[in-house]
Formats: sequence, C-alpha cells, structure tokens
Amino acid sequence: MDRNLALNLVRVTEAAALNCARYLGRGDKNLADEAAVNGMRKMFDTLNIDGVVVIGEGEMDEAPMLYIGEQIGKATPDSIKLDIAVDPLDGTNAVAKGISNAISVVAVAPRGCLLHAPDMYMNKIAVGPKAKGKVNLDMSVEEILKNLSVALNKNISDITVTMLDRPRHEGLIKEIRRLGARIKLFQDGDVAAAIATCFDDSGVDVLLGIGGAPEGVIAAAALKCMGGEFQGRLHPLTDEECERCKAMGLDDVNKLLTMEDLVKGNEVVFAATGITNGELLKGVVYYGNNMAKTYSVVMRAETGTIRFIEAIHRLDKKPEYAK
Ligand code: FBP
Repeated sequence: MDRNLALNLVRVTEAAALNCARYLGRGDKNLADEAAVNGMRKMFDTLNIDGVVVIGEGEMDEAPMLYIGEQIGKATPDSIKLDIAVDPLDGTNAVAKGISNAISVVAVAPRGCLLHAPDMYMNKIAVGPKAKGKVNLDMSVEEILKNLSVALNKNISDITVTMLDRPRHEGLIKEIRRLGARIKLFQDGDVAAAIATCFDDSGVDVLLGIGGAPEGVIAAAALKCMGGEFQGRLHPLTDEECERCKAMGLDDVNKLLTMEDLVKGNEVVFAATGITNGELLKGVVYYGNNMAKTYSVVMRAETGTIRFIEAIHRLDKKPEYAK
C-alpha cells in the first residue's frame, strides 16, 4: 500500500478534529459528532482512493455520510481498493461535556481485510507486545493476571487493568480487586485505552471489559501496527442483535475473534487526532491570530513505525474551520 496514504489519513482525522473541537462543552453530542463527520468526509473526498466504509456511522438509512457501504474518495483506475473504518468522534459525550479522551480515528486496509462488525457491544482484551500470545479472552481473569505477571515480570499488585467505567463491569472489578491488581477506569474512548496498553509508560497493562464492537475493529488495527494483541467476542443483547450478526455473515456469534479475524494481513494504516486532551494525544488548542494546533499519531503495520505529528493550522487559510 502507498505509504504516503498514512499522511493523508492524518489530514482526514485532523479535519474531523478541527471541525469538531469548536463544539467543546456545548452539551450537544450530536452536533459534535456531525461536525466531526462533515470534516472527515470532506477531506476523504480529496483523496485518490477507492474506499468503501466498512465501519462507519451506521446503515445508509441512519446516517447521511460515512455510512456502511459508502464509496469514499476520488477513485482512478489505478486506485487501490480499500476497506475504511472510521470513528470521526470516539467520545461524543467527552466533547459535549468538555472532558478528556475524545479522539478522531481511521483505519484502512486492502478490500476485504477489515471485519464488518455490527454496531453492538463486544467483550475485549488488549495487551501490548510483551504480552502478545500470553493471554486470551477465554482465560479467567485470574489466569490473565498470572500470565501477565510472568510476561511483564511484574507482581500482580503492580499490574494495572483499564476498563470503561460502567455498571456492567461491577463483577469484573470485584474479581480484579479480589486478586489484588490495580484498576484504572475511564469514562469514554476505549480505542485510546487499548492503544495505551502498548506504551510502557502509559501505566496500563491490559484493557478488559465490554465496549463498542466497531471500536474493537479500529483498536485491533492500531494494535496490529504496534505489535500488541487484541481479541474480541461480540456481545449481542437481544435476539434482533443476534440476527443482525448472522445477516452480516457472523454465523457463530460466540466465536472468539482473533486479531486476524478482525484485521487480516499486515497492510494496515491507522491514524488518530486528539480532540480533547487525553493520555495518548492532546486535544485541539486554539491560539490567537487564527491558529490552531493538533496532535496526531499515525502508524503502519508493514513497518511498525509510529509517528506523532504536531501540526499548526492557519485557520485564515482554511476558512471552513474558522467558525
Ligand atoms: P461514542 O463516541 O460513540 O459515544 O463512543 C464512546 C465509547 O466510550 C466508545 O469508546 C466505547 O466503545 C463505547 O462508547 C461504549 O459504549 P457505552 O457508552 O454504551 O458503554
């Protein structure tokens, strides 16, 4: 895959972030999401790619843009055919309330390589490169912590498990406390939390618990680039959701989805830009004189390179962001 695509994907997440960050703290998550979607879609329109959205803003009749199945980019006969997974705003509540951890993310792979995950919950485990192959979603929490303790050469009491702060995790939290590990809860944004497990100094060793399935595929793409490991299992709540899985070709709803099931092969590119401050990326900062700064990360699985990009934007030259 053309490696310059990586920089173009940063332009896409920057556009979403710049368009969306204006709505910080306005209390309207739909407005924030709409702005991120608009910004991302416009930038995609400028790219010479033949993309299809496989993870997006919902079905065609639910979302005006970036819906599943939407054709993206200015395709030429030479354009490589791509699967595109987007979450223009992961953390709609975070932007609405003006709190941390909102990012814009995109992952891209050759056509047929990204799982078309239905919009429902997924049970997840994510770990960094040192623990790859040592834990899986079928293990008990006790087994996971014991194996992590060996893989990371850490006492269980020094291992930190991160998860969404949700009532559904009460049992999991109780069990981790019983076993003596540390817990770090977060309000929103489990893509960034999964990525954090791959950075030694993030202070988190493993992500556990239930979050969105689409976010799971995007996190798997990021972790593939970083040499970490991500596994998921769909967590449908109703018969209708089970039927939806089957309609999307996922006959065995209980199947453990490995990294390879979620993201096939090694030609994956992932990009993210911070919208509000988080531990992975800082949020958009507005300077005087119509300037703004964005913080992004872009990575490619083929080379494993992780680039952090700080960009200063002249909003007078980009009137669409100078509201
Ligand atoms: P949104 O931006 O779509 O609100 O998603 C934020 C998020 O925290 C995801 O990162 C996570 O996967 C999902 O919500 C969890 O869902 P829920 O809020 O229903 O627990």
